[in-house]
Amino acid sequence: MFNFENFEIKLDTDVIGRNFIYCEEVESTNAELLNEENGIDIDGTVLLAEKQNNGKGRKDRKWYSAKDQNLTFSILLKRKISERKVNLVNFAAALAVSYTLENLFQIRVNLKWPNDVLIGHSKISGILIESTIRGSKINKLVIGIGFNVNQIAFQGSYIIPPTSIRKELNQEVDRERVLSDLLNNFEDLLNRVDENPEGVLNDWKDRCRMLGEKIMIQDENYSKSGIFEDVDEQGFLMLRTDRDTVEKIHFGDVSLR
Ligand code: BTN
Repeated sequence: MFNFENFEIKLDTDVIGRNFIYCEEVESTNAELLNEENGIDIDGTVLLAEKQNNGKGRKDRKWYSAKDQNLTFSILLKRKISERKVNLVNFAAALAVSYTLENLFQIRVNLKWPNDVLIGHSKISGILIESTIRGSKINKLVIGIGFNVNQIAFQGSYIIPPTSIRKELNQEVDRERVLSDLLNNFEDLLNRVDENPEGVLNDWKDRCRMLGEKIMIQDENYSKSGIFEDVDEQGFLMLRTDRDTVEKIHFGDVSLR
């Protein structure tokens, strides 16, 4: 059971998580916040579910998470955000998870483009950003975060093997403290996306161990290889291909070649 008071006492934000919705069971926390019909419209709302029946991952994959053990939640942003900044918000979310792992548990992360948080070669957290559009502008931006905290057994097959904080430390951890710290970090990072986007990008790049390596990028329609040269100011991957040109990559799964 999630202890709201223990969470709130450590929450140090102005907006993020101040409207907090706790659910035992939903289809997907992202879908709940995106649904225009359920009237959830407050900037910074966080919706946490103990169980998702249809947790969504990138590229129509599923996100599996054992009930009551981890953190599966979404954050609603209703403020003005330009499309050019969306990938940076994605990086901000991955960094918020990273700072929490580093500061509370001294765990070193490895960030994988575009939105995975790994420890070594195992995945501890995934992020899925979705939006609704009104006219030509983003109406709701929803940042969904799945963070493995106390789960130790993972059934099924995974593209990247999963891990959790408990698996890494061999001890159970306090989910409430993890969530409040993560949201504190995320609010700071969102401000930095506006005030110092380059600093956010640099922090992300400092933790991305594939930068400079030979990589392969796969999508439904193509597979490309080259050197992971950089990420540009919008967070797109710059791939130096064998023909020695630099291509900008918007989507895809990256792996070491
Ligand atoms: C990925 O790694 O492919 C992204 C996984 C994102 C999972 C989270 S869990 C909370 C939120 N609600 C969802 O349905 N998905 C995201």
